[in-house]
Amino acid sequence: MENFQYYTPTKIIFGRGAEEQTGQLAAEQGCKKVLVHYGGGSVVRSGLLERIYRSLDAVGISYVSQGGVVPNPRLSLVYEGIRLARKEQVDFILAVGGGSVIDSAKAIGYGVANEGDVWDFYEKRRTAKACLPIGVVLTIAAAGSEMSDSSVITKEEGWLKRGYSSNYARARFAVMNPELTMTLPKYQTASGCVDIMMHTMERYFNRSENMEMTDGISEHLIRTVMKNAKILMNEPDNYQARAEVMWAGSLSHNGLTGCGTGGGDWASHQLEHELGGMFDVAHGAGLAAVWGSWARYVMDAAPERFAKFAVNVMGVKPEAEKLKTAQKGIEAMEDFYRALDMPVCIGDMGIELAEEQMRELAEKCSHFGKRTIGCIKKLDQEDMYRIYKEARGRK
Ligand code: NZQ
Ligand code: ZN
Repeated sequence: MENFQYYTPTKIIFGRGAEEQTGQLAAEQGCKKVLVHYGGGSVVRSGLLERIYRSLDAVGISYVSQGGVVPNPRLSLVYEGIRLARKEQVDFILAVGGGSVIDSAKAIGYGVANEGDVWDFYEKRRTAKACLPIGVVLTIAAAGSEMSDSSVITKEEGWLKRGYSSNYARARFAVMNPELTMTLPKYQTASGCVDIMMHTMERYFNRSENMEMTDGISEHLIRTVMKNAKILMNEPDNYQARAEVMWAGSLSHNGLTGCGTGGGDWASHQLEHELGGMFDVAHGAGLAAVWGSWARYVMDAAPERFAKFAVNVMGVKPEAEKLKTAQKGIEAMEDFYRALDMPVCIGDMGIELAEEQMRELAEKCSHFGKRTIGCIKKLDQEDMYRIYKEARGRK
């Protein structure tokens, strides 16, 4: 087991009616004026935003609002948010929504608390020294941003999607009522479930040995999400299934399933982020579209791990040859994606990649030739290109 740090400072308030406590939770943070940040309107339509305002009114906390965050959240809105937050002298940001809203809130928090251009952090030119405190009311189980240290933003100029991670941006609290996720379209529920599983799979596929405990938690988490995702495809109002998936979403990305793994692989995420930046695809769907091609490309470097995954997670009967077992596990996962109506290649998302677009994706993903990704196999720009090509429309 590798050395590790595990830091999860976020207070979780989980369950039916949890959002009623939002005002009180904000008051506990000692804030005077809150920026309420939200997305394209689902929280308005559901009446959640009104309830949050009432909850803040009840404890005498004033607020300003900024909506309009889109999936694959944009830098231009972050700049607007920074200007608004400074002008209104807010001292706390409340993100009401999913990963995109939370990530946008974190970026605004960095922008207000640090001098200079916030994009510098996402380009890794500087590190942040602080972030305005963030609170979350979660409406979709997916990104895990409510407990993670990261924020992923898309810069419209050049359509670059970049992440920045630091403990400063970890949410002070996250309000999680599974009922709030019942209004999600099926596609977003499925995409969220894929993302949740992938946050653990990225950590599971590593080069470390001997992690009984973490492997056990990871395998159980993925199986739990698979079981409940299937239930939700037919019963979107099933509270127990919503609750299992929602809690798994947070545990999957708060570091728990990475303890002792040495960090994990993360290549599928990096490959997907460029698809999100260039084609605006739903993040989980994009992951499903590239994962199989990535897995086939690297499995010979870690046949034991892939075979273990196949047997313990996908229920594959072990073959004499590890690689054969591994291959069956990958196929079983793709069958599962199909069962959720998720893509298993980029073509399934209605995107026909041209040769120069695959080159461009690989160029951007390698930060213009300056980095490799992955740990199972280190992938350079040419490897990335090959995986995109493989994922383009494999049948
Ligand atoms: O904008 P509204 O109208 O709210 O609609 C959203 C959006 O269209 C809708 N939605 C959310 N809750 C709903 C709802 N619709 C009906 N009822 C509800 N209760 O769902 C759509 C997707 O929302 P979004 O916030 O984009 O989803 P998600 O949580 O999947 O976030 C995706 C973003 O998070 C990033 C992704 O790259 C992507 O940009 N990630 C962030 C991570 C992190 N910060 O730790 C880690 C992840 O790996 C990921 O990269
Ligand atoms: Zn993700």
